[in-house]
Amino acid sequence: MSDTKLNTLEQPEVMAFFDAQTNTISYIVKDPSSTACAVIDSVMNMDYAAGRITFESADEIVKTIKDQGLELQWIIETHVHADHLSAAPYLQEQLGGKIGISEKIIQVQDTFGKIFNEGTAFQRDGSQFDALFEDGDSYHVGQMQATVIATPGHTPACMVHVMGDAAFVGDTLFMPDGGSARADFPGGDAGILYDSIQKVLSLPDETRLFMCHDYGPNGRDIKWETTVAEERAFNIHVGGDATRESFVKMRTERDATLAMPKLIIPALQVNMRAGEVPTDEDGHPSLKVPINSL
Ligand SMILES: [Fe+2]
Repeated sequence: MSDTKLNTLEQPEVMAFFDAQTNTISYIVKDPSSTACAVIDSVMNMDYAAGRITFESADEIVKTIKDQGLELQWIIETHVHADHLSAAPYLQEQLGGKIGISEKIIQVQDTFGKIFNEGTAFQRDGSQFDALFEDGDSYHVGQMQATVIATPGHTPACMVHVMGDAAFVGDTLFMPDGGSARADFPGGDAGILYDSIQKVLSLPDETRLFMCHDYGPNGRDIKWETTVAEERAFNIHVGGDATRESFVKMRTERDATLAMPKLIIPALQVNMRAGEVPTDEDGHPSLKVPINSL
């Protein structure tokens, strides 16, 4: 039996945390054979109207990790989120661990560095993160091997993280009745998103898939877990025999109707800095609102 086959049989324990303000699901993923864990896509709470940042969502994760005596080794961002702010530095300060994201963060930093007219102090080399992953890279959470799959399309720096029989899909896919994420942000591409989704759908049928978002379409309860087999059969955007051409047409028409996420302006500025809030010339935490730039 090959290592890859053995790997897919490993079943990490997955604990989900739903942030109702941004419809984000964060995860603690625990190595089945040690106390090591990773956190995927944490949330820092923001009241944008008040310019106030708090940590209720991240505190639930901190409490769970402490209560269960877990060791946080990795703090993973599946991409530079546009709809919520990351709590990665807050988790790292309290629990340790390395912050990891796709090496394509450099491209995202270049794009949004221009849009937000960042000065030379803003490094566009990914150095704010502890680890930059390339497609196919592996890392370990305790004894458990994690492998990354580059899945650009929603953004250039999107990655799916596969840990044992579980895959954390970020915004590559939504639940079968939710379809897929938009592909119209700067650097997004609907055709490339379709190709990336095919990579996820080619994982073993029984792979557990964990979503980053769910909006409870048609009034159903919030859900975040499905399987490759279910997505392949039933996903309303890419399931069955949906073609690349029909997907691109649907995605492009639909994206043209969508408003910008409420937190996109603060989220991008913070998340492209690995969750650090930028400061003004006097060193005070502060955000910009570029006009007519997005
Ligand atoms: Fe996203």
